[in-house]
Amino acid sequence: MDLSVISHARENFERDGYLKLPGFVPIERCRELRSHTMSLVSGFVPDVQTRSIFTTKEQTRHSDDYFLGSGDQIRFFYEPEAFDDEGELRRPLDLSLNKLGHAMHDLDDVFGAFSRTPELAALARQLDIGDHVLLQSMYIFKQPLIGGEVDCHIDHTFLWTDPSSVVGFWFALEDATVDNGCLWALPGQHLLPPKKRFRRAPGGGTLMEVLDETPFDLDGLVPLEAEAGTLIVLHGHLPHLSGPNRSPKSRHAYTLHAIDPSAVYPADNWLQRPESLPLRGFC
Ligand code: FE2
Repeated sequence: MDLSVISHARENFERDGYLKLPGFVPIERCRELRSHTMSLVSGFVPDVQTRSIFTTKEQTRHSDDYFLGSGDQIRFFYEPEAFDDEGELRRPLDLSLNKLGHAMHDLDDVFGAFSRTPELAALARQLDIGDHVLLQSMYIFKQPLIGGEVDCHIDHTFLWTDPSSVVGFWFALEDATVDNGCLWALPGQHLLPPKKRFRRAPGGGTLMEVLDETPFDLDGLVPLEAEAGTLIVLHGHLPHLSGPNRSPKSRHAYTLHAIDPSAVYPADNWLQRPESLPLRGFC
């Protein structure tokens, strides 16, 4: 994509808290990432110990060791509705996974090439976050029929820095619509302070610290429908959510979260990166 056509990108991002860029990634690159991911899934051998589901429903998150240890790994997480009452998968594995996370961009060449492009680096510079480093990657399946919803949250809650700095890059790999669980956001509400912080608990596991009990005002929600190849940049304080997918169409997406390496990164953030896999930027 020719970045010169993006006028007022930084102004719009700072005003709305998000930026939607249709056609940022060629469709062929989206197809490549999808088919590469399916090859990773076909090589995954599930076992009971690593069965981990991912949900933010009712502010809970299944925060087992598998999840907490995934900051420097490529791990597989299931949809909450993937299992029946006996604990068996209702459907084939490739239609049961919620996401892969959280270090594909540094461990896998195909994900690395998708995550570090001249176009993305130039956009980051335009948004004045050119020196940010890529902390987290997720491949999100939002499976047909059982795709789980994600409650309204801001990304800073989960990837806390002081000062706050996280920016999300959400790539639609398939068309995302209201029917199959696209993003929804509250434009302009990125100017509000954070209400919660998710962190490791002193005795193990995790907890959600409530800083402000006022709920999000959801009246202003707008759907961010996105054709495949669209990039949506999300301010770390922008409230956003996605609904369940009860449609027969999947809604694959890939996300990156970047932070300012000069900000303080707390030792009790859920995601910890060992020194053996240092964080790198957009190049
Ligand atoms: Fe998010």
